Amino acid sequence: MKKIAFLGCGNMASAVAYAASLDKEYKLYMYTPSNTKAIKLADKLNGTHVKNIDELENMDIYVLGFKPQTIVDASKQFKHLTKNKMIVSMLAAINTKKISELFDSQDVLRIMPNTPMFKNKGVVLYTQNKDSGDHDKFMSAIENSALIYKCDTDEKLDKLTTIFGCGPAYIYYLQQVLENTLLKLDPQFENSGKFITRLFEGSTMMTQDENDLQSLIDKVTSKGGVTIEAINRLKGSAIQEGFYQAIDKALVRTSQIADKMDKLS
Ligand SMILES: NC(=O)c1ccc[n+]([C@@H]2O[C@H](COP(=O)([O-])OP(=O)(O)OC[C@H]3O[C@@H](n4cnc5c(N)ncnc54)[C@H](OP(=O)(O)O)[C@@H]3O)[C@@H](O)[C@H]2O)c1
Repeated sequence: MKKIAFLGCGNMASAVAYAASLDKEYKLYMYTPSNTKAIKLADKLNGTHVKNIDELENMDIYVLGFKPQTIVDASKQFKHLTKNKMIVSMLAAINTKKISELFDSQDVLRIMPNTPMFKNKGVVLYTQNKDSGDHDKFMSAIENSALIYKCDTDEKLDKLTTIFGCGPAYIYYLQQVLENTLLKLDPQFENSGKFITRLFEGSTMMTQDENDLQSLIDKVTSKGGVTIEAINRLKGSAIQEGFYQAIDKALVRTSQIADKMDKLS
């Protein structure tokens, strides 16, 4: 049985821990500075809450689940434990080389999960600094809750993060735009959020039978009809360009965070 320590038990680490907990070959240990979230997660997943860092010695895998901004302080706290151990990092913007240097290990699996993992519908990107059966095993556990996609470089993972890591926010934003439009048309509409969510859910489920998006669009838009007018207007608008620009901005921010961490360490 392999022992995994979760260093940080916030939103994303909880989703990853949940997937790992489904593999009975892993024994889970949870640590957070304020204890609260670690206790809660350990209770929920039948793991062990760890109060003192010293109790984290001799783990097989250390999962970094704190914010990127915390990495330099955290590396000072944990480096003596993580030396030459397998590290799984979910930190945005911090590449495998940096993790390897800061945590003194040549065995780094970098993952980029997204929040739909909570519903077993996530997408998790990953990259690694070496091939390893232990990495493969960890990723099979992740597959309990997500589709997984291997990126051959950190740069690729950073790029694709702007689609899959950031993606849930884009979807909620689109929902918000549609909901606001709905309420403009009918200010009295009750349960607008529930109805818009159903629109997204139902439409997405249709792709289970037919995944060619153009053909799905064609089915809703008949020539000379109403929807085609609306779709043609959207095609002529700045939506596509807006997405390219949004993704560029997200990538610039990735570099800024990475540069800042470089200067701190
Ligand atoms: N949210 C997303 O959609 C998303 C997607 C992909 C990747 N990520 C990555 O996931 C990571 C966590 O993000 P999050 O949104 O889950 O954060 P979060 O909910 O704020 O959780 C952060 C956790 O880190 C703990 N922590 C702080 N300092 C620590 C230290 N020195 N040692 C150990 N634990 C420490 C906190 O402990 P306390 O509870 O005691 O404060 C808390 O449990 C980030 O690196 C982010 O880049 C997030």
